[in-house]
Amino acid sequence: MNKKVVALAGSPRRRSFTEKILDLFLSGMEPAACKKYYPQRMAIKYCRGCMACWFKTPGRCSIKDEMTAFLKTEIETADVVILASPVYVDGFSAQLKTVLDRCFALLDPLLVLDEKGRCRHQRFKPRTQTAVLISTCGFSEKINFEPLRRHFAAVCQNLHWQNGGEILIPAGALGFVAGAYDEKYKAVQKAGREFAETGRVSARTMQVISKETMAAAEYKKMVNRFFEKRKRRVDDEP
Ligand SMILES: Cc1cc2nc3c(=O)[nH]c(=O)nc-3n(C[C@H](O)[C@H](O)[C@H](O)COP(=O)(O)O)c2cc1C
Repeated sequence: MNKKVVALAGSPRRRSFTEKILDLFLSGMEPAACKKYYPQRMAIKYCRGCMACWFKTPGRCSIKDEMTAFLKTEIETADVVILASPVYVDGFSAQLKTVLDRCFALLDPLLVLDEKGRCRHQRFKPRTQTAVLISTCGFSEKINFEPLRRHFAAVCQNLHWQNGGEILIPAGALGFVAGAYDEKYKAVQKAGREFAETGRVSARTMQVISKETMAAAEYKKMVNRFFEKRKRRVDDEP
């Protein structure tokens, strides 16, 4: 795959399960050159909604921080943008959402109607780009990804990104149980290969990856046993 791939590792945690899945996906995509960024470690301020990027300095944000160069040299010129985020209160992590808000500067204010007659903006500099969503969540049911999936689909519409697929792993605690997710990890690598070859992850592979492998009641028991232990450890601390 001779494309520019920019990946955003959006978890604020150092030993992030979502990043592990991102790395597996990228290893499947090899030898595509990919740059990985950590919004958590970058100095990126919140969008202020001043609209300078629309009217005063079209396409240029009034905030001068690491996002200025990142937007110009990475996001705007990427062929593929990978959004990797844990589910945080049913959505993207704040770090990733902050990057998305600042992407507002890519959009021309004038409204156009899309092929479905819906209002939207055009990009100042149109470019064919594809986005992939990678996410993990703590609850066991894959339905917990629904708000994020809908949000991702809407973001793709907004920013004119083609939706290249979703790599979603529920029951994140099983990621810490040896062997529990080995099949999924293989499928994630396969998804990376598929994406590199076709520009899309197949529906079948996405299904294998997001499949629930443990009933909610059993998962609850397993997780609570672990949490009770951790709570006791904290209680015992002097
Ligand atoms: C602030 C916060 C909010 C969370 N909200 C949800 C949630 O709404 N639904 C869910 O299933 N898991 C939720 N989780 C659990 C994480 O999505 C889950 O542990 C994930 O695998 C963490 O990924 P990471 O290791 O890459 O940070 C939340 C965790 C945190 C810290």
